[in-house]
Amino acid sequence: MNTIHAVRAEILDFTADPATHGSAALRHYEDGMLVIEAGRVLNFGDAQALLPTLAPNTPVTHYKDHLIIPGMIDTHTHLPQTSMVAAHGGGQLLNWLNNCTFPTEMRFSDAQYADRIAGFFIEELLRNGTTTAMVFGSVHPTSVNAVFKHAMQRDMRIIAGKVMMDSHCPNDLQDSPEQAYNDSKALIEQWHNKGRLQYAVTPRFAPSCSVEQLNIAGELLAEYPSVYMQTHLSENTDECDWVKTLFPEAKDYLDVYQRANLLGRRSIFAHAIHVSDDELKRLSEHQSSIAHCPSSNLFIGSGLFNLKRCEQAKVQIGMASDIGAGTSFSLFQNYNEAYKIQQLQGETLSPFKGLYLNTLGGARALDLEGVIGNFNQGCEADFVVLNKSASPLLKLRLEDSNEIEDTLFALMMLGDDRCVSRTYIMGEIAYSDNDDNDNDG
Ligand code: GUN
Ligand code: ZN
Repeated sequence: MNTIHAVRAEILDFTADPATHGSAALRHYEDGMLVIEAGRVLNFGDAQALLPTLAPNTPVTHYKDHLIIPGMIDTHTHLPQTSMVAAHGGGQLLNWLNNCTFPTEMRFSDAQYADRIAGFFIEELLRNGTTTAMVFGSVHPTSVNAVFKHAMQRDMRIIAGKVMMDSHCPNDLQDSPEQAYNDSKALIEQWHNKGRLQYAVTPRFAPSCSVEQLNIAGELLAEYPSVYMQTHLSENTDECDWVKTLFPEAKDYLDVYQRANLLGRRSIFAHAIHVSDDELKRLSEHQSSIAHCPSSNLFIGSGLFNLKRCEQAKVQIGMASDIGAGTSFSLFQNYNEAYKIQQLQGETLSPFKGLYLNTLGGARALDLEGVIGNFNQGCEADFVVLNKSASPLLKLRLEDSNEIEDTLFALMMLGDDRCVSRTYIMGEIAYSDNDDNDNDG
């Protein structure tokens, strides 16, 4: 749509990291307005100030008693694990992979199944107010074709890649370095930078890749410098010990990846729980990012992520659901878990920092600042309209909440998909909870 339109409600976003800038990082308007032109932010601010700047008859949708935030960004999740969330009896990472994950991912050899799950996955992201995600496919190129197809139909910004894995996994899930190269290259040529889609070279994690396979990943990145790289790093102590025995030549876990030239501005490492200061320093030097996966870390008992240490090392961090080790698509529920992880370490995670991680922090982690993550002029108009009384308990809790910090805290601790009233993609409604009473047009 090329005409200008606007939405009006309480609205907020972040222009900086609240950890370094405090509440000055927040822009908050109790009666705010977002003006959209051709799917991008034209203006953002106080409604009373902006209303006179609009041409007569500009459509304004007023979401009374709602709160608008930037679309949330899930920096690490697994499409083929959608149907196995909350797998029972899996134990910790390595058993969970063998007993629950690999059998489920095998189902993606069936293109029809892959298509059904990809359609569900994209809709579930939207229902939870997630407008951008960085996604692991399965080893099958079909998985990436399926998720990109559905994302494209919804004009969603999705980064995804076919998993590369040639070791320590069932035969049916193995590729070879040559096949991984050919399949990944074909997917890059077909999808990378097509509309809002971008490709990520995706070596699963060190134990499922030979050195040759990791080197092939590095070659792909050298050949296509604008594609992303995603993998897992230091999630579980048994995994870390295994990596030491598998790669005795490497000085530490990160070095396994560094030797293959996998570190860069568009490299995202999931977890990074059991990392050394030196590894964090090298991540920072290469401007690589960490995807923090709180509900996953608790569900498969991986450990407590030390956010402060990563911040001090100046590593970009984004929030992530890590479906299906993670137990919720909702990045609010992942904030809930992240808050408790910090509590257990004697630290606090403010709701400002939490929502920053879910929005601008994620954009920065994915090298997409200025494109998504806040309401700066020219940014893609992906945003979420939140219903602050979505559940009886939330409604009661917020009755006496007058400060935005407290409101946000309760909303993120208690909220989930039920709070998402509308999800907008490029300025258009992509998901609606069908409650027609919550705007007066
Ligand atoms: N490490 C390697 N593969 C996986 C995966 O699928 N999920 C998680 N959480 N960790 C992994
Ligand atoms: Zn993962």
